[in-house]
Amino acid sequence: MSIKQTVTLLQSKNGICCALQRANSWWSGVQMGPPDAILGVTEAFKRDTNPNKINLGVGAYRDDNGKPYVLPSVRKAEEKIKAKGLDKEYAPISGVPEFCKRSIELALGENSPAVKNGLNATVQGISGTGALRIGGAFLNSFFPGNKIIYLPSPSWGNHNPIFKHSGLEVKSYRYYNPKTCGLDVQGTLEDISKIPEKSIILLHACAHNPTGVDPNKEQWKEISEVIKKRNLFVFFDMAYQGFATGSVDNDAFAVRYFLEQGHNIALAQSFAKNMGLYGERAGAFSIIGSSKDEADRIMSQIKILIRPMYSNPPINGARIVAEILSDPGLKSEWLPEVKGMADRIISVRNKLKENLKKEGSSRNWEHITNQIGMFCFTGMTPEQVEKLVKEHSVYLTKDGRISIAGVTSKNVDYLARAMHLSTK
Ligand code: LMR
Repeated sequence: MSIKQTVTLLQSKNGICCALQRANSWWSGVQMGPPDAILGVTEAFKRDTNPNKINLGVGAYRDDNGKPYVLPSVRKAEEKIKAKGLDKEYAPISGVPEFCKRSIELALGENSPAVKNGLNATVQGISGTGALRIGGAFLNSFFPGNKIIYLPSPSWGNHNPIFKHSGLEVKSYRYYNPKTCGLDVQGTLEDISKIPEKSIILLHACAHNPTGVDPNKEQWKEISEVIKKRNLFVFFDMAYQGFATGSVDNDAFAVRYFLEQGHNIALAQSFAKNMGLYGERAGAFSIIGSSKDEADRIMSQIKILIRPMYSNPPINGARIVAEILSDPGLKSEWLPEVKGMADRIISVRNKLKENLKKEGSSRNWEHITNQIGMFCFTGMTPEQVEKLVKEHSVYLTKDGRISIAGVTSKNVDYLARAMHLSTK
């Protein structure tokens, strides 16, 4: 067969380019990767044709009709921004200045001495993930102690890859007790007391993801004490401020308490959940330094780290956040909207627990209402999870986490039945 004939044959079968490129590919060694443990659940959900299917995988708030919820305060902020006719110039490397100022005030409180004295180096991040990633990069470059970050076990599935990708070593400390579906406070304190001095510890400020298990105030105090004794550097991830108790101030208790106790913390914030700005990617990263001069030096280095990563962040989501937080009228509309989301979650937790009882489940489901925030760590085994997915089209992550924010008064009966049938 002549070359011309071979080429024609390949063309007629698959298209010549494909066939020839495959033989000489640079990428033949690239293996197919697994779907993302959380976001991959949505892909599987979309493929399912069962009309009763429920997606409780990703943590994204839904209204009681199961629909995405755009907060009315966000809509109003968008209108106000539109009316200003702003340009689309680059933001500074550190992000929209008003956004950074208002974000750290929301976290630490408007009268925070740290903010008043200019001790914070705050930059805008690409939502919570980006904020954590900037923090990881900064710690990897400048942390003077052990470049090891200790995560609670379990922790949000993306924490480990984010910090590894930043160059840090990742280890864990006990946190969750599978027997009680609650906090293993003894284990937590014991493990923290053994972490090598001058290491980094990550704490979820509120609404722990994936377990929904938070320390109470007394337990936070004990945790602060032992961390201080070990001279550990605290990195708070606060992705759910307002989503746990419905109050942004209550939910910031741990962060503010640690500062009062003299910890100089790092903090990642996200506005994905509490303003429903998921796709806008508005987040912030801060380090609280010990002087204004130190904060300025830290800021200069963070900017140097950001520049080669993405130059400067997107402006739209940050403008929305800044508009809401800087306008007292809009802010006072937003706060009850956050509480409304938190309250709906609390009410469906109660309904789910009651319905499981009505279905005749003899299991202890108390943790559904004891846990807090967007997620419930159900305690279901991987086999039970598989049954729930395959037989009932209820989608959740393999660790048994369900996003309570996806449960509604319309699907809670179906869900309770499905959970009962999968666990009895
Ligand atoms: C989640 O845990 O479901 C959310 O934080 C979304 C995400 O990016 O994983």
